[in-house]
Amino acid sequence: MDFIAKDNRYEQMAYRRCGNSGINLPLLSVGLWHNFGEVDDFETGREIIRYAFNEGVTHFDLANNYGPPPGSAETNFGKILKKDLKPYRDELIISTKAGYLMWPGPYGDHGSRKYLLASLDQSLDRMNLDYVDIFYSHRFDPLTPLEETMGALAQAVRSGKALYAGISNYPAAETMQAARILSEMGTPCLIHQVKYSLFQRGAEEGLAAVLREKMIGCIAFSPLAQGLLTDRYLDGIPTDSRAGKSHGFLKTDQITPEVKEVVIKLNKIAGTHGLSLAELALNWVKSHDFITSVLIGVSSKKQLQTNLKILGLPNFSQEQINEINSCLIETT
Ligand SMILES: NC(=O)c1ccc[n+]([C@@H]2O[C@H](COP(=O)([O-])OP(=O)(O)OC[C@H]3O[C@@H](n4cnc5c(N)ncnc54)[C@H](OP(=O)(O)O)[C@@H]3O)[C@@H](O)[C@H]2O)c1
Repeated sequence: MDFIAKDNRYEQMAYRRCGNSGINLPLLSVGLWHNFGEVDDFETGREIIRYAFNEGVTHFDLANNYGPPPGSAETNFGKILKKDLKPYRDELIISTKAGYLMWPGPYGDHGSRKYLLASLDQSLDRMNLDYVDIFYSHRFDPLTPLEETMGALAQAVRSGKALYAGISNYPAAETMQAARILSEMGTPCLIHQVKYSLFQRGAEEGLAAVLREKMIGCIAFSPLAQGLLTDRYLDGIPTDSRAGKSHGFLKTDQITPEVKEVVIKLNKIAGTHGLSLAELALNWVKSHDFITSVLIGVSSKKQLQTNLKILGLPNFSQEQINEINSCLIETT
């Protein structure tokens, strides 16, 4: 064990209360969807996690299928925990999820109790943990009774293998129902994980109101639209970027002339605020009152350093948000 966390690691970070719960989440959380798989450089990932923790990032977000190959991000995170962060386990909020294809056959996908509970056991094995802090249903499954999926989350909490239940990618109406069912089961929904960025504003349409009404926390994923809302693609597609890698989920055909045009406009607006485009995009997300935490991905410590700068920024005013919104388009 050669990692000793900085004594002043909690001095810069801001924490927001997650819904009607006892948990505070850091304003910036770090996700391991990309850049932490078997295909990635382990030491770079390790450096990112260590640096993040030293800057007060207490929340790391995983899912069963993160890699590639699926599962390898959890395995690597387990190694980082063992090497560096094990003594700090009680300072960490570690989440994982099940809901997308993980293993072959009829029981390795979607929302059944069988899949969710088996997957949670596998995730705990890979990370070498006794429990995760948050266990999510990764997506709404219209073919499984919601009572069954929520029952699996409640069972995970009752068994002590998870401390809190969360849902991700659920539409507003299903979120309302899920919240009711979970409350009735005595394991309230802690948090909703939703795609939200300058390019993905669907959450504003109904979900935000449900989350406010039900006092559920909200963590915004892909706030940089997987890197589109940064300077990454202003001059082409770098080979080491997500879009430049064959296994990246950002595809080159998503970088259309229309997208580039908006990115260039936003980059100019960022400049007028003295910000980088990434800082503008992240500060825009954090300025919305239904957001508890902004869940970023990073491929280097340097990107994380840039993104952490938003901690020192005041929230945008409604006028500033309106100005930024006026040049937006919706992307996939
Ligand atoms: N619940 C769900 O269904 C779901 C779905 C997707 C994601 N998530 C969660 O959300 C997390 C974040 O998603 P995401 O990785 O798509 O988030 P993101 O923050 O929108 O995109 C991250 C990418 O943006 C680029 N980037 C970040 N900071 C930068 C900077 N300062 N300058 C230039 N480029 C920068 C990097 O791209 P390069 O790699 O090209 O350098 C990085 O990999 C995931 O890890 C996962 O935990 C959840």
